[in-house]
Formats: sequence, structure tokens, C-alpha cells
Amino acid sequence: MLRIQSSGIRHGGRTSFVTANSEKQASKAVVRSYGCQMNVYDSGKISNFLGSEGVSITTELGEADIVVLNTCHIREKAAEKIYSEIGTLGEWKQARRAAGGSPIVAIAGCVAQAEGAEILRRQSLVDVVVGPQSYQKLPDLIMQARAGRKLVEIDFATAEKFDRLDRAAHTPAPTRAAVSAFLTIQEGCDKFCTFCVVPYTRGEEVCRTPASVLAEAQRLVADGARELVLLGQNVNAYSSIEDDRDWNLADLVAALSDIGDLERIRYTTSHPRDMSPDLIAAHRDMPKLMPFLHLPAQSGSDRILRAMNRRHTADHYRRLIGRIREARADMAFSTDIIVGFPGETAADFEATCALVEEIGFSSAFTFKYSIRAGTPGAEADDQIEEPVKHERLLALQALVERRRRPINASAVGSVVPVLFEKRGRHPGQIVGRSPTFQSVFASGDAALIGRTCDVRLTSAGPNSFAGAIVAASER
Ligand code: SAH
Ligand code: SF4
Ligand code: F3S
Repeated sequence: MLRIQSSGIRHGGRTSFVTANSEKQASKAVVRSYGCQMNVYDSGKISNFLGSEGVSITTELGEADIVVLNTCHIREKAAEKIYSEIGTLGEWKQARRAAGGSPIVAIAGCVAQAEGAEILRRQSLVDVVVGPQSYQKLPDLIMQARAGRKLVEIDFATAEKFDRLDRAAHTPAPTRAAVSAFLTIQEGCDKFCTFCVVPYTRGEEVCRTPASVLAEAQRLVADGARELVLLGQNVNAYSSIEDDRDWNLADLVAALSDIGDLERIRYTTSHPRDMSPDLIAAHRDMPKLMPFLHLPAQSGSDRILRAMNRRHTADHYRRLIGRIREARADMAFSTDIIVGFPGETAADFEATCALVEEIGFSSAFTFKYSIRAGTPGAEADDQIEEPVKHERLLALQALVERRRRPINASAVGSVVPVLFEKRGRHPGQIVGRSPTFQSVFASGDAALIGRTCDVRLTSAGPNSFAGAIVAASER
């Protein structure tokens, strides 16, 4: 998915990163992404920013002199993983130094934003800490770090970031865009669910202008993208004013639909409170908008939803799904659920199971509640014990699976349009997605990547389908 530059691009007018580099040779960077799709998108931009300063991107640690870890803070495990990952870079750093280089470790993303200078205190291997609003500064920060300084840049200036991102988006890149490309249209969150760090790590909701989104979309499609996945922590709250006109997400989808070679549009992640009638109607009226929605419910108990500050009830969620299904009968839904939120009783958990049973999700991401310092949930004195969380998680996962299996099985035998995105693991195999976001594997020529084919689904696995190509589209 990630669009990575395989060679650097120089631009004139100022001291180049390459020649400023003490090694007097082209720098190479490894950029690793953790967490959500927005981090994957941001890693592409980080690669662009570095690329425009002559740094090429590699996946081989042995040949890199810069490592950027784009981190996630959402659960304790995710955040702690980063520290063990940093620990493994000790040998690499030593080897590069021994070879006369000046290796740099930069920590980006939500752990960087949440922990700032604390990262430098905990891990002396780290040279640069840079939050999600400051990636445009990364080349400069790395240059300063090469002079022996340790730097922390976690200011919030989202508008400036978007402005720079727009420009980075226009940096020519030697590789083609992914067939299904991410495009951030909104960043940050004002919802303050009591379990969640995102409002603190990504700041308040900020939306890009329609003009800048459309320009990037056109460029991505010209570079080969056939599907765009519009990203935002609260993407369906998208709202912007341009030329005295109000734009919501449905308006944006309508404008994007006019891009001829763009076949499919998706968006993630949505909040149940922000599913507007316009957006629901868009699922009925706009054929390029795919019949799939990731709509986190978090719990099926109103008591817990209130404690989570979700601002919706289980019934509101049920009715909403009903209205969307009325608009488009073949809609598929996925969700996020947290078990073991403080105070969750057996009855609350049963209510969650009842919701999952009733809706029939095509997939569900299930999590044990993880205490996050600084969020209201961390202060609650009725935390749930680990064994209870564990037991509930297993029970919920079994239920999700039991509900999902017949849904998938009933699709076997049908013919669905699949947009092929990449080669599969086996020779001669290609893989793509159905309209409802299921992975479909088929035997086929790699030349079909980027094209939509009618595929008969022949069998259903736990997370994907096998299929046989019936006909390729004319494109
Ligand atoms: N609005 C964003 C949220 C990203 S977090 C989005 O909806 O994509 C993704 C999921 O992680 C959330 O929906 C929630 O289910 C889960 N999550 C967030 N904080 C958590 C925590 N403290 N413990 C366990 N799961 C959490
Ligand atoms: Fe977190 Fe809630 Fe905002 Fe999603 S809506 S990012 S879960 S605070
Ligand atoms: Fe993780 Fe930050 Fe995304 S905390 S889920 S990388 S917004």
C-alpha cells in the first residue's frame, strides 16, 4: 500500500541533505509504520520529505543510516513494542558508527507526540522525536542531529502540516501509486472517548480543503490508483467551507466520483454520531462509493457507552445500521469492540454480545481495554481484572467468528467485481478486494493488477475468499 520512493530526488537552492551529510554519500532511510492507516499514509509522506532531500528509502537496515519508526500509542502493548524495537537498533548503530557513519534514530507518530522528551530519557539510542504535525521538519531535524544534538519537535501546527503535505504530495515520485491508495482528508478528534489517546496525540479535528484533497486525488489516480481510501480519525465528520459553499463527506465523494479513472471510493474511520443522512444517501446514489462501512460500536451496553463518552446508545447504533441497509441492501459492516472497560459487568458484556449477534459483522476488531495514562478511563477505580478481560475477549471472538462464517459461506458461488491490487504469495496468484472489502485470491496474470474483474467466489477462508476470474473489465 505504502508509496515509497526508491531513489532520492534533489532540489536546488539550498544546502542539500546529501552533501551536508558527513559521509558524503547518498543517505538511505528505513521507515517503519505501526498502528493505523493514517500512519501508513504519513510514512509515505515522510518518505517523500526525505526523498526530496536526496535520501532514498530502503527496507534493508544494513544499508540504512537513518531509521524512522512511525509509532502507535493506542494500547499499552503497541507503545511498549516500540521500546523493544528501539532496543534492537543498538547493534546497527554501533556497526554504522564503526564504519565512520553517523546513524540516526528518529521516533515519529503518536508515541512521539504523547511521550516527547521522555523517550530520550528512556532510550539513549534515540536522536530525534517528532510528532505527527511536524514531519515536514524531519530532514532539518536529522541534519541537526548529525551535528550531535538530541531534538524533540512536538508542536501542534496542523494547518501548516497540511500545507506542507500538499506540497509534498506534488513531489514527483519515481514509483507508481498503490492501486488502492490512502488519502488523509481529516486529522484529529474532538470526541474524547474516555479510553482513547487519539485526541491528545493527534489534536483537534482539522479538515483539508476540498481543492487540496481533489488535487491529491487526481494526482494519485494519474499515478495509477484506482481506489481511494479517504482517511480521518473521524472521517465522516468532514466539513469544510470553500468559495462560500459548505462541503461534507458526501459532497467530497460526489466530487471525487467525477474523476474518470477512479473506480472505487472508501472512507475510514467513522463515528456513529456523524453518519449524516447525506452520507447514507450517498451509499444509495453513488456507485463508486463501496458498500462497506467500518463503524466502531465499542460496546452494546448503554451504561458502558455512557461511561466511554461515546454519545450514542446501542439502539441508536442498531437503528443507524438499519437505515444504511435500507439505503443499500448489500452493505457490509465491520466494527471495533472493547471488552473489560472499567465497571463492565457480566450483564454489560452480554449486551455487547447481543449487539454483535444481531448485526452480523463481516469482521470485527476486538480489544481488551488498555489503561492509558492521561485519559479519564485510567482514573476509574473499578478496573476489570486481566483474567476476566481475557475470558470475555475469547468469548467475543468466538461469537464474531460464529456469526461471520455463514455470512461468508453464503457468498460462495456468487460473482463479484474484484479490483486486483497485488501479487499473492503463491506464483501466478493475484489478490484484490470485493466491493465489501473482502480479500479475494485468484489465479491470474499480474497484468490484471489495477483492473477490475468479475470473479466467482469458490471457497471462503477465515479472512479471505478464493475465486476464479470470469471476465476482466474493459479498462
Ligand atoms: N476514531 C479512530 C480510533 C482509532 S483507535 C478510529 O475509530 O479509527 C481504533 C480502535 O482502538 C478504537 O475504535 C477502539 O476500539 C480501540 N481502542 C482505543 N483505545 C483503546 C484502549 N485504551 N484500549 C483498548 N482499545 C482501544
Ligand atoms: Fe478515539 Fe473516540 Fe476519537 Fe475514535 S472517536 S479517535 S475512539 S476519541
Ligand atoms: Fe495509533 Fe495514533 Fe493511529 S495512536 S491508531 S497511530 S492515530
